[in-house]
Amino acid sequence: MKYNFDEVIDRSDNFSAKYDELEAKFGRSDLVSLWVADMDFRAAEPIMEAIRERAEQGIFGYTSRPESYYKTMKNWYKTRYNWDMEKDHIIHSPGVVPTLSLIMKLFTEPGDKIIIQSPVYYPFFNVVKDNERELVINPLKKVDGDYFMDFEDLENKIDEKVKFLILCNPHNPIGRVWTKEELRKLGDMCIKNNITVIADEIHGDLVYDGKRYTPFASISEEFRLNSISCLSATKTFNIAGLQASFAVFPDKEMHDKFDEFLGILDIKRNNCFSLVAMEAAYAKGGEWLDQVLVYIRDNMKFVNEYCEKHMPQIKANMPEGTYLVWLDCNDLGLSDDALNDFFVNKARVALDGGSWFGEEGKGYMRINVACPRATLKEGLDRIKEAIINEL
Ligand SMILES: Cc1ncc(COP(=O)(O)O)c(C=O)c1O
Repeated sequence: MKYNFDEVIDRSDNFSAKYDELEAKFGRSDLVSLWVADMDFRAAEPIMEAIRERAEQGIFGYTSRPESYYKTMKNWYKTRYNWDMEKDHIIHSPGVVPTLSLIMKLFTEPGDKIIIQSPVYYPFFNVVKDNERELVINPLKKVDGDYFMDFEDLENKIDEKVKFLILCNPHNPIGRVWTKEELRKLGDMCIKNNITVIADEIHGDLVYDGKRYTPFASISEEFRLNSISCLSATKTFNIAGLQASFAVFPDKEMHDKFDEFLGILDIKRNNCFSLVAMEAAYAKGGEWLDQVLVYIRDNMKFVNEYCEKHMPQIKANMPEGTYLVWLDCNDLGLSDDALNDFFVNKARVALDGGSWFGEEGKGYMRINVACPRATLKEGLDRIKEAIINEL
């Protein structure tokens, strides 16, 4: 089936964070909304069909996961990424961020340190700080416009208090898909220093131009044992509102403790819609995914060409993965506050502020391009006009 991603869908009755929280987040609602990472596209037909069928049953009692639920996700990772995950290691969780937060709570003590690589997805900061653990920032370094891990800085910052490193692969917001060599170097360093890697790989399926996403745990037996992988179909298939994810815990002690705690909170079950949607996505979503990736890639090119042609003060990157483009706005010559104010109150677009992703993000903005091209163009036109008229 051929999907039409050009269709602009009115989300005003969609009760979405992306649109209904504009006023609360940005102070006004007349903005082209290109911030929080969900897509303005309708989900794949097999997912809709599965949800419709489930809704038609009319009974929405407590769920039980069938064997096929695990089979489809295992099969997805095996066939696409040659990673054999064991069913006994998989734990359902309502989301990746809740998993990260619970890992902090359950497996670290006050005073323990956790490394993150900034600029990075802002909840990584929060899950550490909110659980009163110590954050260690290993900033990415920018060389000739591309971001790389800074292993020298990492080595200098490691001490015996560091318990975890949270890896973002592919990396939100800068869009790198880490190579096997980079991951190997990182993983070796972590093993040498008794640091467990938490691999947030929720963007793993969103990769372009022949780049390959390598699941961290798939690299070697040692890496598998020294990692927790956080995964979901929600980002790939635009079903984040269904709130489901899974984590792979090869360490039995950690697995059991995490599982027990979810039991105490009584959040071990899927809701009845995520149960069928996740399975349908992994079993039958490939066709939609192939098409959406082509559309998103064209949107990334559109942003790049638009900036080059109409507003060279803004330099867009060409991400290897995710659906987020990182805009270098330093040449606008604005302070962080002025930059955010410019986009909201002059251009009237809602983007993620670069500084939300850490100190290193200052001077940048993140634009979500998983939307119809007309929406994207409207946002870019507004920015262009504001540069001409307001700066
Ligand atoms: C790197 C990363 N991890 C996790 C999430 C959110 O995951 P969840 O909705 O499962 O908590 C996002 C959403 O943008 C993300 O970019």
